[in-house]
Amino acid sequence: RASLANHPMIDGRTQDSPLIRAYRGQRADTLPVWFMRQAGRSLPEYRALRTDVAMLDACLDPALASEITLQPVRRHGVDAGILFSDIVVPVKLGGVGVEIVPGRGPVLEHPIRSASDVAALRPIDPDVFSPIREAVALTVAELGSTPLIGFAGAPFTLAAYLVEGGPSRDHLRARTLMHSDPHTWAALMNWVADASGEFLRAQVEAGASAVQLFDSWAGSLSVEDYVRRVAPHSRRALDHLRGLDVPKVHFGVGAGDLLEAMYGVGADVMGVDWRMPLSEANRRLGGRTPIQGNIDPALLAAPWPVLEAHVRAVVDAGRAAPAHVVNLGHGVPPDTDPDTLTRLVELVHSLPQ
Ligand code: CP3
Repeated sequence: RASLANHPMIDGRTQDSPLIRAYRGQRADTLPVWFMRQAGRSLPEYRALRTDVAMLDACLDPALASEITLQPVRRHGVDAGILFSDIVVPVKLGGVGVEIVPGRGPVLEHPIRSASDVAALRPIDPDVFSPIREAVALTVAELGSTPLIGFAGAPFTLAAYLVEGGPSRDHLRARTLMHSDPHTWAALMNWVADASGEFLRAQVEAGASAVQLFDSWAGSLSVEDYVRRVAPHSRRALDHLRGLDVPKVHFGVGAGDLLEAMYGVGADVMGVDWRMPLSEANRRLGGRTPIQGNIDPALLAAPWPVLEAHVRAVVDAGRAAPAHVVNLGHGVPPDTDPDTLTRLVELVHSLPQ
């Protein structure tokens, strides 16, 4: 608590919420639940607001980003909001030409691959994040005691987009650069770490109560490459939060073999995808780390009894961990029936702890 007094920007109203208590390793009366990509195309009220606004323009409009963030909290009664934004927002604010193409994902004007491409990147100016600070401030004022989660992309996942120039399956060009020109790779990863790190810091200073670092594509790396060529930069991103006492969640897809290494960069909580049972994740983490996950998103489209049985099994597998925050193993699919998500929140909240 002393650290709260030192940092008045950390909102004391959220500290006893089920989410923040679980992230700090305590079990509360109800099991907290939120969904990755809970804001977005599964909600008709989101689609209505986005009809004539490009994705990244929506992210940089504080009132619009705040409203979209609040939509799933109002509708589903989830235990947290997560800021409506995108992992490429800090890259764009840092001066890189990038757009999000519907149905595809982030696409770069010019891929960043050579030493001179990397040398041309400008140092990150924290002032560029003012629209983000404003969106967070508007949102936490509405959320009251419900915490807002801030987030950023981890350096590898972002570098995969920057080097490839767009979405790719196995991130071959990025992994080639990592080995063929380690110096350029490290310089690029440091720049991205600073962009994501300052994005995180802006969100926490403006009132976010926790953060999640998404290393969605880390699963394409060997443990050795992750530890040697990636982990130091992910640590650098989180180091931008120095002095701000907020729980840090770290999540990757297909990254079961990397759990301990990803925890080791300075995370407090590990997010787990749907491939690994939470009991196994907890065992690998030595039984000491709060975990988040890991409902299979595919089952959101299954008949309710099938989904319900799966959710109960996920909650049972999570009982071994010091604390558990229920989530999906990856984002909400856009064609999900929103009523299914609402019903899922009610189910999780009704389960005995
Ligand atoms: O979880 C939330 O509700 C918060 C918002 C959020 C978005 N993107 C909004 C978004 C978060 C946390 C992200 C992170 C993100 N963005 C990641 C990491 C998480 C993950 O899913 O693995 C990645 C890899 C991206 C890059 C990205 N942005 C992709 C692949 C896409 C999908 C493109 C498409 O049309 O299929 C986006 C666009 C995006 N980001 C949308 C949303 C709601 C969809 C935009 C739309 O409505 O058209």
